[in-house]
Amino acid sequence: MPLVNAKEMLTKAKAGHYAVGQFNINNLEWTKAILLTAQEMNSPVILGVFEGAGKYMCGYNTVVGMVEGMLETLNITVPVALHLDHGSYEGAKACIEAGFSSIMFDGSHYPIDENIAKTKELVAICEEKGLSIEAEVGSIGGEEDGVVGAGECADPDECKMIADLGVTMLAAGIGNIHGKYPENWAGLSFETLAAVQEKTGTMPLVLHGGTGIPADMIKKAISLGVSKINVNTECQLAFQEATRKYIEAGKDLEGKGFDPRKLLAPGVEAIKATVKEKIELFGSANKA
Ligand code: 13P
Repeated sequence: MPLVNAKEMLTKAKAGHYAVGQFNINNLEWTKAILLTAQEMNSPVILGVFEGAGKYMCGYNTVVGMVEGMLETLNITVPVALHLDHGSYEGAKACIEAGFSSIMFDGSHYPIDENIAKTKELVAICEEKGLSIEAEVGSIGGEEDGVVGAGECADPDECKMIADLGVTMLAAGIGNIHGKYPENWAGLSFETLAAVQEKTGTMPLVLHGGTGIPADMIKKAISLGVSKINVNTECQLAFQEATRKYIEAGKDLEGKGFDPRKLLAPGVEAIKATVKEKIELFGSANKA
């Protein structure tokens, strides 16, 4: 099945009270592991690409080619969206050109008027080309791909202003942080989430920083209107731990254990296990 935008999968998720996972990709192994797991679980899925990861993978055209090739060769029949994550204005335009099916324009660091103007322009382009678009209000804390956010709770009125521009989904800061959560993290602000949801009605809300949020908080966030949850660091940690174990056990020194197809296999299996666990927790299994 060719790439789809994220609109239908998120509308269904919102109505069905579950969330679709966005898993960020870094290379061929990551992409293959996520696609195969989504297919096995019969779940819709969103592949997230940071601008830095896009560069690392030799540009957006290469990413589109790789993902489209895999959809065909691996016989992927579940809905898959290829989504730019935390895109700049220029990055969003480049991904639209390259054939992504969805983009995020992160204008949260601009004054609200400028965020609105730029989001509005991109909404019009995405509408014309049939892409979905995510906007952000209130920056997400922590550091991700060189982007440092202070972590704040979004203003529900500003969320409504951006939602009314016709975006497909909205990321609102609710005390969530990218990467590992610090010991003294105050938790998600469900008060903010409920207020944002009240103002934005049926708009699917996006929860960034999915790594390390306790399962009960994830479930509560979904019950309050979150329909897309982003996970990145957790897959990286799972890959790193499994690869470390393989090497520490000396397996790379045994036989052809140095072959990258063997060396990277435990990490790939660890990514698959993480994605599977998240799909189960988010409730999107068998919703393809
Ligand atoms: P984590 O790295 O904390 O899982 O966050 C992912 C994310 O929000 C990507 O946009």
